[in-house]
Amino acid sequence: MQPEHNTGFALPEPDPESAAHSHRVANYLRERIAEEGGSISFAEFMQHALYAPGLGYYVSGTRKFGAGGDFVTAPEISPLFGKVLARQTTAALQQLEARQIFELGAGSGALAATMLGKLAQIDALPDRYYILEVSADLRERQQERLEQEIPDHAPRVEWLAELPEVFSGVIIVNEVADALPVERFARTGGVLKQYRVSDDSGKFCWHQADAPEQLLYAIQSVEEALGRQFPDNYRSEICLALTPWIRELVESLREGLIFLFDYGVTRREYYAPDRNDGWLRCYFRHHAHNDPLILPGIQDLTTSVDFSALASAAADAGADVAGFVSQAHFLLNGGLQEELADFTSLPLEEQLELSRQAKLLTLPAEMGENIKCIGLSRGNFMPPPAFHEFDRAHAL
Ligand SMILES: C[S@@+](CC[C@H](N)C(=O)[O-])C[C@H]1O[C@@H](n2cnc3c(N)ncnc32)[C@H](O)[C@@H]1O
Repeated sequence: MQPEHNTGFALPEPDPESAAHSHRVANYLRERIAEEGGSISFAEFMQHALYAPGLGYYVSGTRKFGAGGDFVTAPEISPLFGKVLARQTTAALQQLEARQIFELGAGSGALAATMLGKLAQIDALPDRYYILEVSADLRERQQERLEQEIPDHAPRVEWLAELPEVFSGVIIVNEVADALPVERFARTGGVLKQYRVSDDSGKFCWHQADAPEQLLYAIQSVEEALGRQFPDNYRSEICLALTPWIRELVESLREGLIFLFDYGVTRREYYAPDRNDGWLRCYFRHHAHNDPLILPGIQDLTTSVDFSALASAAADAGADVAGFVSQAHFLLNGGLQEELADFTSLPLEEQLELSRQAKLLTLPAEMGENIKCIGLSRGNFMPPPAFHEFDRAHAL
């Protein structure tokens, strides 16, 4: 996700309805803090702020995506993303008997709508397009959108309540891993500390406690893999939820390919010595900032993904890495030029709009380099063309 037009540092005031909602979420967080004896880990804070039943950012009815929301994602920016992904999905499905697609965390439904439209156009519709969405509110919006935009193909879409036990086909996951809750840690006075959140007279504030065993072990494993210890005052994040999450996903795939897109880097980049304040970002009305303790429930909280950790957890669960490329390379290898073949015959306004979209998707300073796609396969599988050039799997 990224802000569409970040206009400076001052955050806009939330409207009265959003402010009232945030107040309710803050009260909920205060109750959890009191129940836990005065503080909760940042991972718990993030989990509640994003997913508390009926209240969290992703499960309540606030507008999140697009110009009137807080951020935009690739499928929201341009149908070019979904059209190229449809081509690559087809290349993968051609190697399988099962003609099924499964999208995890489908947001506004934009990607499903574009992909099914494109797949119909190239005569490659899947038998079924499954969606698993944790947010009941988003599920409803996805249903409405698909019925409106692709009424002929909407009956192929089925919403699942949980991961299928056995699935063969293609799984698509765009910007979901960066919405998993993370622990924030630091080395302070030579000791690894966990960041916790407490309530100080109605204001959420940070404090540090000795890292509990599971977190300590996870950070030390990262240090071991890096071959060095984090120096004093180094602060970063680690996602303990990532390993069980990707394991479950890989284990549900009997044969096929997962295309997983997200903001992220390799472990060495994630924990680079100069990246000493981590990757946590907050988005409110297209303003990016660094304070996750304000505006609970009405701002998005997100971090980048440690793709080395993700790849190693996926390999432990039985997947092969089919490729690891930047979003720009995925799109360029995967058929972006072909999608733009009629470009010059379009009216000038459409040309300008399409080139704006293509730039946002591919320029290194925009999404082109910051977002990566990892392909994870199970079974005897030829990586599709999107991974044929500029594959950086060796760097993971
Ligand atoms: C940043 S949005 C991205 C949405 C969409 N994929 C897109 O690209 O526009 C994150 C999405 O993941 C969903 N989500 C978060 N955790 C999830 C989980 N464990 N399983 C399924 N969906 C999840 C959220 O409800 C939301 O739809």
